Amino acid sequence: MVYQIDLSGGTVVVTGGNRGIGLAISEAVASAGANVAILFHSHPKAHEAAEGVAKKHGVKVKAYQCDVSDAKKVKDTIEHIEKDLGTPITGLAANAGVSVVKPATELTPEDFHKVFDANVLGAFNSCQAVAQYWIQRKSKGSIVITSSMSSSLYNQKGLNEPLTQIFYNASKGAVSNMVKGLAAEWAPHSIRVNALEPGFCNTEQTSGMDPKIREWQASSVPMGRFSEPHEQGEPAVLLLSDKSSYMTGTILRPDGGFSVY
Ligand SMILES: NC(=O)c1ccc[n+]([C@@H]2O[C@H](COP(=O)([O-])OP(=O)(O)OC[C@H]3O[C@@H](n4cnc5c(N)ncnc54)[C@H](OP(=O)(O)O)[C@@H]3O)[C@@H](O)[C@H]2O)c1
Repeated sequence: MVYQIDLSGGTVVVTGGNRGIGLAISEAVASAGANVAILFHSHPKAHEAAEGVAKKHGVKVKAYQCDVSDAKKVKDTIEHIEKDLGTPITGLAANAGVSVVKPATELTPEDFHKVFDANVLGAFNSCQAVAQYWIQRKSKGSIVITSSMSSSLYNQKGLNEPLTQIFYNASKGAVSNMVKGLAAEWAPHSIRVNALEPGFCNTEQTSGMDPKIREWQASSVPMGRFSEPHEQGEPAVLLLSDKSSYMTGTILRPDGGFSVY
């Protein structure tokens, strides 16, 4: 029989699922048959992105404006999804994230809150809300948190020239550790929690960078290039599916070989 991932009959929640890596996750889970609930911050084209995924894959997709750092809003949104889309939530990709790039001497408490509220508290709120939903229903589920290879290294823009995003890297270290704790606490409830740690990827987050930095970074990867968003979205589907039923508390790192050095 052909190896196949089938997520039909369920809904996957994808935070930041309207663009970049999140959109690629939305596309990938939709192509495996899942309905998709996209949580976005404020992008004017988020609903359009949802319609595009629905049309392309013949599944139901709805975009919800929801700042993931607002725990109550996240919980309320999660509570509406099953009724709206008609299928139970079976997976969560806690993917929303932001960065502030500045030398450490210039970073402010506001910068800290901007990054940690979205990347750490936001990921936690999303995980907690779906875990409560599953535990209440006594159903299993799978969570993937989009961390980054930056969780355990410091990015360069040239040889020995740091990219200067202390808070971002620290936030990714935090969520890569968080998957271990959540995996341990929720394993008895049949909830798996894993991290995806992308390497460089062609998205809006990286497109604004100086082309010379992008070129240097690409040349520092054994595969010699940035990844495309689908090269992150497709591995995420594996973690969200039963094909990874014995994986929890682990990290999957699609980085083109960057971490071998
Ligand atoms: N690109 C890379 O090279 C790379 C590498 C490693 C890891 N990552 C990680 O991968 C994830 C996606 O990155 P990306 O490059 O695809 O980013 P992106 O293109 O900048 O998109 C960010 C997404 O997150 C959403 N978002 C941000 N703050 C939010 C909040 N408070 N509440 C709800 N949604 C929020 C945005 O919503 P709006 O559209 O409404 O603003 C958008 O959908 C992030 O966690 C990032 O750190 C990226």
